[in-house]
Amino acid sequence: MEKTFVMVKPDGVQRGLIGEVIARLERRGLKLAGAKFMRVGMELAETHYGIHKGKPFYEPLINYITSAPVMAMVWTGPNAVAAVRQTMGATRPTEAAPGSVRHDFGLEVGRNLTHASDSVENGEAEVALWFDESELVEWGRAIDEWVFE
Ligand code: RTP
Ligand code: MG
Repeated sequence: MEKTFVMVKPDGVQRGLIGEVIARLERRGLKLAGAKFMRVGMELAETHYGIHKGKPFYEPLINYITSAPVMAMVWTGPNAVAAVRQTMGATRPTEAAPGSVRHDFGLEVGRNLTHASDSVENGEAEVALWFDESELVEWGRAIDEWVFE
């Protein structure tokens, strides 16, 4: 089953939106496979956002992501990567679809509340970066057959 890495960023945590984000993913039928509330160190932040190094928003982005705790999670399901990106909405809240998290709770790209892996390949790499194998839980959920075809 496809896995994706999801994070409620520091602004989402500070604004009390961890539950809101989790509720939306659960309600959609996605299945939780791992979660930890943590502070992001400089090294992890720089590895995670390494692709953006050199861009004008890189330093503010690193400061933002290390400024307060985050809720790091792994979610699974068919097409989990695309489904979660859709639930979170476009990077810029003013371009995010109505009903998405970034639309419903955000205004600025530098305070866009959540992260979600943008491809299956990056999903696997980010899950491996943020979680130890032993922190991931494979479990049978009673409703699985009513959500997964
Ligand atoms: P994320 O990686 O956090 O899920 O967001 P994303 O894929 O939708 O966007 P990405 O292009 O990967 O950018 C990573 C994060 O950097 C900040 N950003 N700021 N000021 C800017 O123009 C700008 N562009 C991106 C955002 O916090 C974005 O989520
Ligand atoms: Mg991204």
